[in-house]
Amino acid sequence: MKKVKTGIYGLDTLLGGGYRPGSVNAVLGTTGVGKTIYGIQYILYGLNRGENGVYISVEMTEEDFISECEQMGWKEAETYIENNKLTVHQVYAEDTVFLVKDLIGMIERGCGEKNRIVIDSLTPFIFRSDTKRRKGIAEFFRKLRYLGTSVVTLEEPFLNTGGFENSAVPILLSDSVIRLQNVGYGELFSRTLRIVKHRGSHHGEGIYPYYIERGLGIVVEASESDIKQVMPKKEYSKEFKQAIDIVKKKAPENLREILINRLEESSTSWVRSESPEDTLKYFLESELGDHE
Ligand SMILES: Nc1ncnc2c1ncn2[C@@H]1O[C@H](COP(=O)(O)OP(=O)(O)OP(=O)(O)O)[C@@H](O)[C@H]1O
Ligand SMILES: [Mg+2]
Repeated sequence: MKKVKTGIYGLDTLLGGGYRPGSVNAVLGTTGVGKTIYGIQYILYGLNRGENGVYISVEMTEEDFISECEQMGWKEAETYIENNKLTVHQVYAEDTVFLVKDLIGMIERGCGEKNRIVIDSLTPFIFRSDTKRRKGIAEFFRKLRYLGTSVVTLEEPFLNTGGFENSAVPILLSDSVIRLQNVGYGELFSRTLRIVKHRGSHHGEGIYPYYIERGLGIVVEASESDIKQVMPKKEYSKEFKQAIDIVKKKAPENLREILINRLEESSTSWVRSESPEDTLKYFLESELGDHE
């Protein structure tokens, strides 16, 4: 599957290539960690490659957006707005009772063939979340997935202000969650990024330092051994091939193709440095046990 690159330098490798197309991805953090910069960097990366962008902001007007981009040294945003490739909407949460009804149409109008959607931030929309609204978030996410690949930012302190159940909903519903933190001491680990989850993909498990640079944006620092942990290992193809041969010989007709497919999938995504020998033994014992 072709992944959607985030355009956050150093991050895509750790995400196993990037986001899943048609997914909703949360970026979580307290004020000042760089959520807005993340959103802008993500959307410009797509725009610079011919995609369309829709940016929903509770804070920024179109003008503010352009000036925010200029602050970072990113001058191309204005042209994309003029050419209707990028739509920036400032939306007041108070006016938005129903996410789907009020936002989806607005987003859809800015969409083209390949779309990057940013909601910065989703928190005000879910603050007064009752059961009805909570259901609304699920439906909203479902519709977003049809429209493109989205980033929603979430304010972190909000999680501790009671109503955890409600505020956890977007996190539970998101296909991936990235947490940015600013601990504010020590040079290297002052700002850190962690991939909390990434559905259907291997991802880096570490806590990675990142920095924000004018001109570049967010840059994540991962060591070679961090990167090695998420790279599929080719050196075990022999072990997988042996297991496939056993399946070919011993599996009943109706299971053969299914099991071979599993082994092939596993072979191309095996990221662990240990040999898969034991794992394959368990697999064969369980899948073929009844038929020996
Ligand atoms: N031009 C710049 N060069 C270097 N660092 C910058 C620049 N602009 C912003 N930053 C850094 O990024 C931080 C703000 O990032 P951003 O606005 O994306 O945060 P945020 O998470 O969206 O915050 P909020 O929750 O308040 O909206 C600043 O505190 C600063 O440390
Ligand atoms: Mg912000």
